[in-house]
Amino acid sequence: MHVQAEKTNVLLVGSGGREHALAWKLSQSRSIGSLCVAPGNAGTAKFNVPIAQDDIEGLADFAEENDCFTVVGPEDPLCYGLVDAFRSRNLRAFGPRKEQAMLEGSKSYAKKIMASCKVPTATFEVFEDYEQAKEFSSSRNGEVVVKADGLARGKGVFVCSNQMEVDNVLKGLLVQRSLGEAGKRVVIEEKLLGQEASFMALCDGKNAVGFGTATDYKQLFDGDKGPNTGGMGSCSPAIVLSSDQESEVLEKIVNPIVQKTAFKGFLYVGLMISDGKLSVLEFNVRLGDPETQSIIPRLENDLLDLLTEIEYSGIGSEESIPKWSSKTACSVVMCSQGYPGKTDSGMIISGIDEAESDGAIVFHSGTRQENQNFVTNGGRVLSICAIDESLEKARSSAYRSVEKISWRGEYHRSDIGRKLSGPIDNVASNRISSSAR
Ligand code: AMP
Ligand code: GLY
Repeated sequence: MHVQAEKTNVLLVGSGGREHALAWKLSQSRSIGSLCVAPGNAGTAKFNVPIAQDDIEGLADFAEENDCFTVVGPEDPLCYGLVDAFRSRNLRAFGPRKEQAMLEGSKSYAKKIMASCKVPTATFEVFEDYEQAKEFSSSRNGEVVVKADGLARGKGVFVCSNQMEVDNVLKGLLVQRSLGEAGKRVVIEEKLLGQEASFMALCDGKNAVGFGTATDYKQLFDGDKGPNTGGMGSCSPAIVLSSDQESEVLEKIVNPIVQKTAFKGFLYVGLMISDGKLSVLEFNVRLGDPETQSIIPRLENDLLDLLTEIEYSGIGSEESIPKWSSKTACSVVMCSQGYPGKTDSGMIISGIDEAESDGAIVFHSGTRQENQNFVTNGGRVLSICAIDESLEKARSSAYRSVEKISWRGEYHRSDIGRKLSGPIDNVASNRISSSAR
């Protein structure tokens, strides 16, 4: 076991609901010295330092001056090489290096690694040329999924149903460069039917352990209808993943990838499950949002001790194995009017104290403080988490708390925690949708 200094100072990078959940748990650690969040949101106000999440040198200067162990929430700083920059200055940051972060930063790279590790995934081709891409997709009657190769803040995946849709998407990405460099190359893949689950793993560069599963409700409207979003709510554990399937994900998907790429950090596997068969939709090189808001409240370990154990000693000891509450967590995302498109900000939020007194954990995402008030500051504003003996109980207490919170233009789904709709509905409702944070 890694023997730790008395206390560890932590710099947590990011500003979403995922980071509020991580800060909430890290602040409870018996080993925490000072906790700083860069730049954070109104929920993490007492920990915030005003350094942007992509200001890698600024973050490294801060970590050096304050002797911090750094934990990174979002993918952007990882894909820009935060961990490499920190290592070159002898600083510890928990996460993958830039090359490994390409598992999320380049969809074509991820697909090639999956192919070389025999990881089950949709068949695919990679294109930079519009005419060739069009010809390939028309040979599939337009029943394909088009993905911008690069980082697109969740707006780069298009599930299509006919050639006209595909043409529009391809023209936008490859010709008009609607997503800039991120869309100059595309992956076109087979459209899979099934139900989705999110699987998180903690990886030490050689081995991996599961770090919780969740169901993410991606569509804007009840019944899994409407445009894709960054996630309208989650529950943990995942509704559709059995414990045998969890072992299969570790053995047949995560471990081969970790060994091939020497991946260290959190690895998120987005899965499609169809007739009991698993297929990888995507990898992310960080935890999911809003999955984290349901996973973290179920974690029984001291999060800081767990992460430092993995960072300094790797997986092996009892301390490096995550332990979970048998309870179920359900988190409902409350968002601003217009999300996932353009939204207003500055709306005064009321009722957070009442929801918290009722037992809910309120995680902030797009919020800021103005005078004495919390106000909205983005699309997804809060996630309201409840944890209970059963999903049904967690769900009803989460919604009881949601009803206590309001602002002008607030919107949430009313069926988070319900069973996902079947494979056919799931895909039909997802036509030509793009997702957004
Ligand atoms: P991704 O960011 O790659 O996970 O894609 C976002 C969403 O698009 C996924 O959560 C799925 O709902 C959908 N999707 C992605 N790839 C496929 C696929 N090959 N077949 C069907 N749906 C997909
Ligand atoms: N909830 C999906 C993601 O974090 O990418």
